[in-house]
Amino acid sequence: MASFLHLFHIFFLISTSFFLVTQSKPPQRTAFNPRTAFNPNKLVLPIQKDQATHLFITNIHKRNPLKQVPFVVHLNGQFLWVACEQSYLSSTYHAPLCHSTQCARANTPYCHTCNSTPRPGCHNNTSAQDVLSIQSTKGSKPGPLVRVPRFLFACATSFLLQKGFPKNVQGIAGLGHAPISLPNQLASHFGFPPKFALCLPSSASNVPNGAIFFGDGPYLMLPGIDISSQLRFTPLTISPEGQYYITLTSIRINNKQVPINASLLKFNVNAGTGGTKISTIKPYTVLEHSIYQSFTRFLTSQLPGIPQLAKPVAPFSVCYDSRKLKSTRAGPGVPNIDFVLQNQNVKWTITGANSMVEARRGVTCLAFVDGGVRPRASIIIGSHQLQDNLVQFDLAGSRLGFSSSLLFRRTSCSNFNFTATP
Ligand SMILES: *[C@@H]1O[C@H](CO)[C@@H](O)[C@H](O)[C@H]1NC(C)=O
Ligand SMILES: *[C@@H]1O[C@H](CO)[C@@H](O)[C@H](O)[C@H]1NC(C)=O
Ligand SMILES: *[C@@H]1O[C@H](CO)[C@@H](O)[C@H](O)[C@H]1NC(C)=O
Ligand SMILES: *[C@@H]1O[C@H](CO)[C@@H](O)[C@H](O)[C@H]1NC(C)=O
Repeated sequence: MASFLHLFHIFFLISTSFFLVTQSKPPQRTAFNPRTAFNPNKLVLPIQKDQATHLFITNIHKRNPLKQVPFVVHLNGQFLWVACEQSYLSSTYHAPLCHSTQCARANTPYCHTCNSTPRPGCHNNTSAQDVLSIQSTKGSKPGPLVRVPRFLFACATSFLLQKGFPKNVQGIAGLGHAPISLPNQLASHFGFPPKFALCLPSSASNVPNGAIFFGDGPYLMLPGIDISSQLRFTPLTISPEGQYYITLTSIRINNKQVPINASLLKFNVNAGTGGTKISTIKPYTVLEHSIYQSFTRFLTSQLPGIPQLAKPVAPFSVCYDSRKLKSTRAGPGVPNIDFVLQNQNVKWTITGANSMVEARRGVTCLAFVDGGVRPRASIIIGSHQLQDNLVQFDLAGSRLGFSSSLLFRRTSCSNFNFTATP
C-alpha cells in the first residue's frame, strides 16, 4: 500500500506539471454518434471491491474489438489513465499530436519522446483516443451499451501499475472535475448534466456488486427504492486540481460535540490545506492528529464498560473483542457518529457498519486512522465510510447529495440489478 501511494504521489507530481497551463475549461460538446440507437440520459458502470488492496475496480469496455478493461476507481483523478505500452491492440486507437486541440482539451500539451517504433504508449503524442462503450440505464437495470467513438484518455507507461495495485488492473478511472475526466467527458458527449453518483459495495466479490451512475436519478436499488429521492445536500467545493471537498463544521458522537480546533476544518483554497476531502483510494477516514486523538478519546468514553484490547491491530488504535459489541442491522452497536455539515440539521450519520471494521477474526476496530500533524487535508473521508452510502456529485450545481447508510433503508449498494439483461 505504501509503495502504491508513493507511486501515486509521483504520478500526481508528473500530472500536476502537465496541468500547470490549465484549469477547468468547460468541455466542448462533441458530435453525437449517429450510429448510437438512442441518446441515453444515464449510464452505469459496475464496481467491485478488491479484498487485498481495499481499492475499487470498474470494468470499462474499450477498444476495437471491444474488450473489458479493469481500472481502479479514483474519485479525484483527472482523466482515464491507461497503461497502453503492452498488449494494447485496437484498430481504433489514435493519438492526436501533442500540440493538437484534443490534447489541449485534455490538458496534456506535453510532448513525450520515444525512440523506438511508434506504437500505443510509445509515440510523441501523450493524449490518446479510442472507442469507449458503457451501459446505458433508465435507473433500475442495465440497458444497451452505447459508444463514445473517440474518448480522450492519457496514455502512460506501465511502471505505475507494478506495486500495490490489484492484479490485472490496466489504469485509473478518474472521476475528478477536470475537462476529460469520465463524468465530464460522458456528460458532454451525451448531453446530460454533469452529475454522477457513487455507491461502493461493502464486500469483496468477483461479480459486479456496486455502481457508479453518470447522469441524474432515479437510481433504483432492489426492492425498487429510488435513492436519488432520499438524498440530503451540502455544498461541494472543488479544488483547483478538480478534487472534492465538503465543509464539516463539527463532529458529534452520541449527539455530543467532539472538541476540535475549528480552524482545521476550514479549507484554504489558495494553499490547498485544511478542510475535508472525499477519497476512494484511502481505505479508512484519515484524521489530523489532534482531531484523531480527541475523536478516539471521545468515542471510547461513550462505550463505558467495554474494555479496549491492549494490543490493537495496526493501523488502528482502538479495538474491541467483537463478542462484546452488540450486533445490529447497521453493524456493531456503537454510538452514532454525525458529521455535521452547513448547519445542525444537515448531518451525515455514520453507524457501526461504517465506523467499525473487523480487522482480524474476533477483533473489531474503530475504522479511522491518524493522519499525523499538518497533513494537507485535515480529514479525508475514506472508502470504508462511503460503503453502502450513495453519494452524488453535482458538478454544475456544486453540491453533494448523500444518503447516509442504505442499510437503514433496507437496501445496499450491492442491490442494483446487474443480472437483469438489457
Ligand atoms: C500522432 O499524431 C500524428 C498527427 O496527428 C498522427 O499522424 C499519428 O498517427 C499519431 N500517432 C499515433 C500513434 O496515433
Ligand atoms: C518524436 O520526437 C523526436 C524529438 O522531437 C523526433 O526526433 C522524432 O522523429 C519524433 N518521432 C515521430 C515518430 O514523430
Ligand atoms: C488550531 O489550528 C491552527 C491551524 O493548524 C493553529 O494555528 C492553532 O494554533 C490551533 N489552535 C489551538 C488552540 O490549538
Ligand atoms: C433482476 O431483474 C430480472 C429481470 O428483470 C429479474 O428476473 C430478477 O428477478 C431481478 N433480480 C432480483 C434479485 O429481483
